[in-house]
Amino acid sequence: MFNPQLNTEGNLKHLLTIEGLPKRILNQILDTAETFVGVAERDIKKVPLLRGKTVCNIFFENSTRTRTTFEIAAKRLSADVINLNVGTSSQSKGETILDTVDNLIAMHADMFVVRHAQSGAAHFIAQHVPDGISVINAGDGRHAHPTQGLLDVFTVRKYKPDLHNLRVALVGDVLHSRVARSEIHALTSLGVPEVRVIAPKTLLPVDVEKLGVHVFHDMKAGLKDVDVIMMLRLQNERMSGALLPSAQEYFKTFGLTQKTLNYAKPDAIVLHPGPMNRGVEIDSSVADGSQSVILPQVTYGIAVRMAVMALLGSGYPSSLQAAGGQPSQTGQPSVGGGNGVNSNTGGSA
Ligand code: CP
Repeated sequence: MFNPQLNTEGNLKHLLTIEGLPKRILNQILDTAETFVGVAERDIKKVPLLRGKTVCNIFFENSTRTRTTFEIAAKRLSADVINLNVGTSSQSKGETILDTVDNLIAMHADMFVVRHAQSGAAHFIAQHVPDGISVINAGDGRHAHPTQGLLDVFTVRKYKPDLHNLRVALVGDVLHSRVARSEIHALTSLGVPEVRVIAPKTLLPVDVEKLGVHVFHDMKAGLKDVDVIMMLRLQNERMSGALLPSAQEYFKTFGLTQKTLNYAKPDAIVLHPGPMNRGVEIDSSVADGSQSVILPQVTYGIAVRMAVMALLGSGYPSSLQAAGGQPSQTGQPSVGGGNGVNSNTGGSA
């Protein structure tokens, strides 16, 4: 079946969504990311894979983690990086998104990293650009956030390497969450046998079970025997109407606290894509606690985004070997000690 993300050889040409991507491509991205974790440990944190290429970050929506880590990742691959400031660009004078893209292509852009509030925006641009130019979806509406889903699975794999023996729960606003969709597609495609969602009915899509998840409306039952807890932000900016009584009421029923965390396995890890609403979906004692891997997620996000860009832009793997990219050790980091970032940065404990 035709997949707009793959070229005729079956290699990645755009990354728009995890849905429908072959497992072999997901594993290729994760395994390639392993080779980049160690780059952050070097004195000179660079490999020359994208030397001479130009990466354009076009963010029509706010971002801290995604935009910054894409920029760091591109620079570590030696690309030139343009961060288009949409607020001060000619978009504000009425220029269309495709005219903006065409002008950047006329400046010899090689890759676009796009975030937009409208679902489908990255697909729209990918259909428009000529062969040889790649588009990466950095989050579109409530549809998909593929690199977030990949970096979350990469983080899970670092702490819990046997994906085929895991119980994972996503907690919160699945309805409005592009992250949740990408996480669910990544986890189920990679063979995680049990993926749960825990949320009030008002924050679940109709027919969510068709995504291959088990549905719970109660933290005690939903977190029982869970290895991995993926918290989701309440997406207030995408909600229309009152779907919840109040943030306080939500926290009482679906917030992750020390008490509710104890319903999961004692060695369960806690993820959150950020930005966090402390005291709304997660208590600070958990967010900053010994089971949290929230900051390592951010660190691993750089390696995962490097992998995606290297695969798209450099003819990997032959160019990686020529550039001296060395596989890092893939050892399992330990959870514990504050937020875990010190013990885990680099991921090769
Ligand atoms: N997780 C995530 O997408 O965060 P940002 O909105 O800060 O990029």
